[in-house]
Amino acid sequence: MTKKSINNIGVFTSGGDSPGMNAALRAVVRTAIYHGKNVFAIKCGYEGMINGDIEQLNSRSVSNIIQTGGTIIKTARSERFRDPQGRKQAFENLQKFGIDGLIAIGGDGTFHGCVALYNEFKVSIIGIPATIDNDIYGTDFTIGYDTAVNTALDAIDKIRDTAQSHNRFFIIEVMGRDAGFIGLETGIAGGVESILIPEVKTDVNKLCNQIQSLFDRGKTSNIVVVSEGDDAGGAYEIGAKIKQKTGIDYRVVILGYIQRGGNPSAKDRLLASKLGYWSVKHLIDGKANVMVGEIGGEIALTDIEDTFGKKKPIDMDALEMAMTLASG
Ligand code: F6P
Repeated sequence: MTKKSINNIGVFTSGGDSPGMNAALRAVVRTAIYHGKNVFAIKCGYEGMINGDIEQLNSRSVSNIIQTGGTIIKTARSERFRDPQGRKQAFENLQKFGIDGLIAIGGDGTFHGCVALYNEFKVSIIGIPATIDNDIYGTDFTIGYDTAVNTALDAIDKIRDTAQSHNRFFIIEVMGRDAGFIGLETGIAGGVESILIPEVKTDVNKLCNQIQSLFDRGKTSNIVVVSEGDDAGGAYEIGAKIKQKTGIDYRVVILGYIQRGGNPSAKDRLLASKLGYWSVKHLIDGKANVMVGEIGGEIALTDIEDTFGKKKPIDMDALEMAMTLASG
């Protein structure tokens, strides 16, 4: 089969922003230009594709962004792209600009869109995993996850100070609609007393007994980290249940969107640079409908369907370790 030649590359960020998206964009633009290709930014993800909000970039367009959070080409969650008519319009705009290859930077919603575009119009697309949730199969880490964990950890450390000073019980809610990666790692690193994640059914009675016993044994500050997608509810709901059963008073902190912002960590900048670079190399080399990830330090290509069709497992041994370390 002859290799399709790629001359005009469209790049977009889509879904929830994550720190390191700009570093990935910079790597895509610089690598594409180095190889003599034209690069176009599609603004606001699929929304911009539908609206024709597309602009050619040069090397200077991505100066001084490797260190910044957010995404300079904006992002969105597009309802219109779920509709075949929206996708047709998007494809027509790609044709208008002569775009013959796409790099999609985002999470599972973004990759669902890639599959639709590929199946319906055979557009060559390479995905780059970027979401703070880390819930993408085919890569050890997603861009933004490391920064989000460090942001949440910094907050937990600060809350520990006041919990300690007041002998208080805190319930801290971290992001993770469907996945507990942020909850698990911040919980372990923050030395918290309990971690509740969507992958494990929460036994509220057991949790109440644990918290009660910690107080009974003289532990003065107690912190529970809960991922927003936990089956027992959010932090307020869980706090109310514990108070009802034990009488122990609590304070709630919802970390929310601060986890999505801020300057990317060194680890995220390195990952973003690497994945951005390899995405272009593979696109030029004729690959399509795959995501570029990193597994065990090596670049790995995964069919885009598998990135959301298969589930990345959570480390259950790490959870057990966390509970053992918190039992003192
Ligand atoms: O970026 C992922 C995520 O942070 C999820 O954990 C969260 O549920 C979701 O985005 C909320 O984002 P939005 O309000 O942008 O839909």
